[in-house]
Amino acid sequence: MSHALQPVISATGLFTPAETISNEELVTSFNAYVALYNRENADAIAAGELEPLTESSVEFIEKASGIGARHVVDKAGILDPQHMAPRLAERADEDLSILAEIGVAAAKDALTRAGRDASEVNAVLCAASNMQRAYPAMAIEIQNALGIDGFAFDMNVACSSATFGIQTAADYIRAGHAKSVLVVNPEICSGHLNWRDRDSHFIFGDVATAILVEAKDIAPAGHWDILGTRLKTVFSNNIRNNFGFLNHAHGGIDQQAPKTDKLFVQEGRKVFKEVVPMVAAMIVEEMERLGLAGADMRRLWLHQANSNMNRLIAHKVLGHEASAEESPTVLDRYGNTSSAGSIIAFHLHHDDMQAGDTGLICSFGAGYSAGTVFVRRT
Ligand code: COA
Repeated sequence: MSHALQPVISATGLFTPAETISNEELVTSFNAYVALYNRENADAIAAGELEPLTESSVEFIEKASGIGARHVVDKAGILDPQHMAPRLAERADEDLSILAEIGVAAAKDALTRAGRDASEVNAVLCAASNMQRAYPAMAIEIQNALGIDGFAFDMNVACSSATFGIQTAADYIRAGHAKSVLVVNPEICSGHLNWRDRDSHFIFGDVATAILVEAKDIAPAGHWDILGTRLKTVFSNNIRNNFGFLNHAHGGIDQQAPKTDKLFVQEGRKVFKEVVPMVAAMIVEEMERLGLAGADMRRLWLHQANSNMNRLIAHKVLGHEASAEESPTVLDRYGNTSSAGSIIAFHLHHDDMQAGDTGLICSFGAGYSAGTVFVRRT
């Protein structure tokens, strides 16, 4: 293929919010909320009209998920047992919105690493699981803030948004519609997590990543050839969030309810059982198509939702228990950051890879959706 139409990854970028919440801090605040709720509802609980809430535990979180801490954009609001959500002041329309702000920070990091000036970029895709507003597109705001002349749009495929974004960007390069495409993944997951829900309150964190997908003939030295991409979706209600303009505009949101369908809700066990075989089979099929065996894979940068899930998937792909080097995790520091997770893993764990080394960026999540991007270092 002509190098002018061959897509590669030139660089990635990362923005990490300064504040972190450890499991200990999170569980202390959650248990304070539980005590408060049970005290306030003592009569109804005693009368058998209400179930008392149960405490969370650090040991459960670590064993069930591998999550150790998470970065967030507003720690105080989340840990306030009376509030249990980030407090983010609304900004004037003239000011850069917070989702665009963190996206721009990650994008600038990717551009700097690639030695690329924003004026040379042709398109911006904001690929993330939650957009801050309906329109104008977050991607167009990011494009404007960076001073990019071209086109931009938002795309949402939940946790798989980044890999779907990479394939979309790669297709623009293949078609000759663009030479340089920024895929930006700002994820303020703390805004759609129900911090009062014991089953999921520990899952998410906030972050932004960016991926610069370019034509090989303009890419910087040390770029990553894209060997192949594959996307898959299969409808499931097991990870769902019913928030939307039809139920929000008329005051349908009850932030006080301990469980609400206008935030992230999942059947975690079912997700685990259904997604692991689906993703493992998809990766193995794609490896066969690309003529790759387990032994050819130096590294798997898997979606960062659950360490046990990743252990099983990596075992099926590699044919043996994966080492930390073969399947690096960022769950200990970042928690689940939706679409950004596999990109953070790639961004933080690739410096030691040599020219010719092959790896896989893989995402999976709500939809269900899954995406694979096989890359080789040059
Ligand atoms: N603290 C202490 N105990 C808890 C708890 C908490 N915060 N949350 C649940 N438990 C308890 C439950 O009450 C249950 O107790 P029981 O056995 O006495 O009934 C037990 O732990 C097991 O609960 P379960 O929800 O079945 O846990 P799990 O082992 O399946 O782990 C997940 C939960 C969510 C971590 C796990 O299912 C998972 O990661 N699934 C995939 C999630 C995913 O990838 N989602 C995609 C999002 S993008």
